[in-house]
Amino acid sequence: MKLIEVQNYDEMSKLAAEIIIEQVQTKTNSVLGLATGGTPVGMYQYLMKDFTQNKTSYEQVITLNLDEYIGLEKDNPQSYSYFMKEQLFNHINIPENQTYLPSAKSVHDEEAGRNYEKLIETVGGIDMQILGIGENGHIGFNEPGTSFSSTTGIVKLADSTREANARYFTKMEDVPTHAISMGISTIMKSRQIVLLVSGVKKAPILNQLFQTDVNENLPASILKKHPDVTVIADQEALSILKEKKGSVFS
Ligand code: PGA
Repeated sequence: MKLIEVQNYDEMSKLAAEIIIEQVQTKTNSVLGLATGGTPVGMYQYLMKDFTQNKTSYEQVITLNLDEYIGLEKDNPQSYSYFMKEQLFNHINIPENQTYLPSAKSVHDEEAGRNYEKLIETVGGIDMQILGIGENGHIGFNEPGTSFSSTTGIVKLADSTREANARYFTKMEDVPTHAISMGISTIMKSRQIVLLVSGVKKAPILNQLFQTDVNENLPASILKKHPDVTVIADQEALSILKEKKGSVFS
């Protein structure tokens, strides 16, 4: 993994946007793997700004999101489908039918994962996957203990994940218990991966990621085996890692 140190959230967002813009300008029919959550919001704002100012075109781009809650309709403001429209798709020139999120009718909908895998294959695989990391080390919604060989399917959310995401809901009971998520092996097939890490809350897990070996209790640790991963981390996220002796910075 290549680590790029930046000062703060804004710098992380700007750099991540620049990487995507270059990807899209170099390969106009890029397949982008996108993420939701608090981390990529600033990056999407920079993409919108660039679209307005420089007219970078997404007309031929295909996007595939990492995950979606089960049990929320697409027009529910807490759904990731709604999030992506609000944060990005409604503001750039990407045709709606080229934007995909996994979706499952119920927790028993096993076909949904297989269909998403087929879709990823049909579009030729993901050129660049944007990732965040959960405070517990998850990528997508692949919680600690998930097999590294997992493919897209239904996942149960860890209590800590539901608590971390409760900030977007009125009450805890409203936070879905399950989601459909790209699997870890699916994510690993992406040709290039950009992992964004910002804020003091992510400092413990970022430290762990760099200090521990690859193991299934820390899903993001598998990224160390990928040939092209760039981690963009800000000073708050790096705070523990940098104070440790023997870290990558010593
Ligand atoms: P966050 O979520 O960007 O809201 O911190 C990241 C994640 O859970 O993967």
